[in-house]
Amino acid sequence: MASKSKLQKFAELADNPIVFEKNNAMKGNWNTSFFKNNHPIVIELACGKGDYTLGMAKLFPEKNFIGVDIKGNRLWSAARVANLENLTNVAFVREQIDQLENYFDAGEVSEIWITFSDPFPRKGDAKRRLTSQKFLPIYKKIIQANGIIHVKTDSDLLYEFTKEMLTVIPSTILKDYADVYAMQKNDELYGIQTYYEKMHLRDNRTIKYLRFQLI
Ligand SMILES: C[S@@+](CC[C@H](N)C(=O)[O-])C[C@H]1O[C@@H](n2cnc3c(N)ncnc32)[C@H](O)[C@@H]1O
Repeated sequence: MASKSKLQKFAELADNPIVFEKNNAMKGNWNTSFFKNNHPIVIELACGKGDYTLGMAKLFPEKNFIGVDIKGNRLWSAARVANLENLTNVAFVREQIDQLENYFDAGEVSEIWITFSDPFPRKGDAKRRLTSQKFLPIYKKIIQANGIIHVKTDSDLLYEFTKEMLTVIPSTILKDYADVYAMQKNDELYGIQTYYEKMHLRDNRTIKYLRFQLI
C-alpha cells in the first residue's frame, strides 16, 4: 500500500476524535467530558510519536494519558497506534507547549513527562528549552501539589541546564540518573524507549533522567 501523503494524514488527524488540534474545548473537563472517569491525568510533552503516552497507557489502564506536540505528522502516527490498539485512556493535543494553561485547569494534571525534548544548544535559545524559567512556572500552574515531573534526555546540556534551573526555581529533585542504562534504571522507567531514544542509543549516547517536584 502506498504511504499516505502529509495532506491525507493531516485530514485524518483533523477527523480523529482523540486528537485536539489547537482546540482547547476540554480544558478543566478532560475527565468528565472526554475520559468519563476520575483517573489521574498524565501528560507527555514533546511526545513526538507518543511512545511514553502509548506505553504507559497500556501498563496503567487506571490512568489517563495525553501527549502534546506541535508536529501533526508525528501525532498522526501516535493516534493511529492508539486507535489500532483500542486505547481508551489516551488523547493527543497538537499545540505549542507554552499554551498548556489554555488546555488544563490549575491542578488538573497529576504527572508530566518530558521526553527527549530539543536541547536548543544556542545560548540565545535557552528560553525555548522545555525546562527553562519560561516553562517550569507554566507546569507549576497545571500540575497538582506534589505532582511529579520526569525528564528523560540524551543531552548533557539539557540535563545540566535542568538541574541548574532547579536550583533557581523552588523544587525537590527526587531521582537523578546520570546514565540510565549503566545504572540499570530503565525498567524503573517502565522499560519504554522512544523513537529518538533508540536513535541516540544506536549512536552510543548516554541517556539521563531527572524526577522532581516543583514546590
Ligand atoms: C526530538 S523530538 C522527541 C520526540 C519524542 N519525545 C521522542 O523521544 O521520540 C522533540 C519533539 O518536541 C516537539 N516540540 C519541541 N518544542 C515544542 C513546543 N514548544 N511545543 C510543542 N512541541 C514541541 C517537536 O515537535 C518534536 O516532535
